[in-house]
Amino acid sequence: MSPIAPHNALELMNIAASIARQAGDLVATGRARGTGNVDIKSSPTDVVTQWDQASESLIVGRLGDLRPNDSVLGEEGTQTPGTSGITWLVDPIDGTTNFLYNLSGYAVSIAATDKAGTLAAAVYLPVTRELFVAARSHGAWLGARKLTCSPCHDLSMALIGTGFSYSSERRDAQGTRIAKMLPQVRDIRRCGAAAADLCYVADGRLDAYFEEFLQPWDLAAGLLIATEAGAVSSDFSGSPIRSEQTLLSTPGIHQAILAILAS
Ligand code: IPD
Ligand code: CA
Ligand code: CA
Repeated sequence: MSPIAPHNALELMNIAASIARQAGDLVATGRARGTGNVDIKSSPTDVVTQWDQASESLIVGRLGDLRPNDSVLGEEGTQTPGTSGITWLVDPIDGTTNFLYNLSGYAVSIAATDKAGTLAAAVYLPVTRELFVAARSHGAWLGARKLTCSPCHDLSMALIGTGFSYSSERRDAQGTRIAKMLPQVRDIRRCGAAAADLCYVADGRLDAYFEEFLQPWDLAAGLLIATEAGAVSSDFSGSPIRSEQTLLSTPGIHQAILAILAS
């Protein structure tokens, strides 16, 4: 068997960026004509629209053309095996509830991963036309601007993002956590798209973001963008981050947030 060639993170980042932009423009144009068909997934509030599916088809088709030996895992059902050692994680619309209600905060999230984690990433917000990208060990950018997370050192001055599961049982526990955190921080935001929240940490628009029970395609791209911008990642006990427990924060408040989340 021939050894797997090294992969160029910047090249993969540019592929992710171009495809994310194309898919995002497709769904935003589609949304202007209405939601189209809407189906239910894990719960009556967890929906998939025809535009989630159209976006995933476009992304998977273009990856197949450009990277035929890579694996692809997409939220709406794609599971393409590959041989290259690269797996693409695709969220064709992150923030489908925002999309459904015609709120602007939805994104297309595409990550190229290898054994060491995310190698290259793009998150595109089609309504604001913001394209966040990162390549491992190279940095993170919004357009041409290099990203750096906020200088916040004081939890009481921190703006914290979070999100909630589609399952009402899980929301019980999430509500308890928020109730404990709320009096100790500047304020809480629930923007509605995990990938965008992570980009906001990268750009200092949030000082931290935490959520439980994410899926790998929610996390992979935004995690690289945030950490390349200087954010610290962990689970709620300070161990390595996992999609079940995600905390990304500017370094100055990481320990203070952990003290709340771990207790
Ligand atoms: C959801 C969004 C939301 C987060 C949920 C995710 P979807 O993804 O990222 O902000 O709170 O946990 O499932 O379903 O819109 O792709
Ligand atoms: Ca998602
Ligand atoms: Ca989605």
